[in-house]
Amino acid sequence: MKFFVDTADTKDIAELAATGLIDGVTTNPSLIAKSGRPFAEVIKEICGLTDGPVSAEVVATDTEGMVREGRKLAKIAENVAVKLPLTWDGLKACRTLSDEGTAVNVTLCFSANQALLAAKAGAAFISPFIGRLDDINIDGMELISDIRQIYDNYLFDTEILAASIRTPNHVKLSALAGADVATMPPNVIKSLVNHPLTDKGLEAFLADAKKADIKV
Ligand code: E4P
Repeated sequence: MKFFVDTADTKDIAELAATGLIDGVTTNPSLIAKSGRPFAEVIKEICGLTDGPVSAEVVATDTEGMVREGRKLAKIAENVAVKLPLTWDGLKACRTLSDEGTAVNVTLCFSANQALLAAKAGAAFISPFIGRLDDINIDGMELISDIRQIYDNYLFDTEILAASIRTPNHVKLSALAGADVATMPPNVIKSLVNHPLTDKGLEAFLADAKKADIKV
């Protein structure tokens, strides 16, 4: 499973990229706004921090505008993946940009039929938003499993990018459901390593090593 980090904070991205565990980055207009920095500048900097895809989202809502903005974003760096919303206009723009060789991440996916449309439109990634479904009492994980089955039935190569991940459990369940990628906020990625028994065990090993004066 690939791990993307879902943030526009370049400090966090640089720190996580140094672990060698990060395969790409996703942003959205809310995350860019939170960074307080100019859009193109921050995307360019992020693209230099990872070799993997960096999703940058359009703000136009009509096909022509999305294609225009998508082409502009794709010129920022080779690893930009243009993020488009799951609307009819977005799907049409997805077909055009994908045919031009630009990787497209179709975002704001909340149903299996929407995911089927995105794959047919040539999307490189589909982003089902797990957490936002859970927020309204719908099982986000069922959506990941349904998309997995549909894509496998028809051999679509669109990657399932589990998004809106809020907890370590979301990561485990997405992996079990066969998502290709999980995009997570930095705090969720960092929390994946935590286990109290690891801490307790290490403490005991180190205490015994000290007592026995073990040196490596
Ligand atoms: C993914 O690409 C989105 O930017 C992100 O996962 C949305 O997460 P949220 O629902 O926590 O805002």
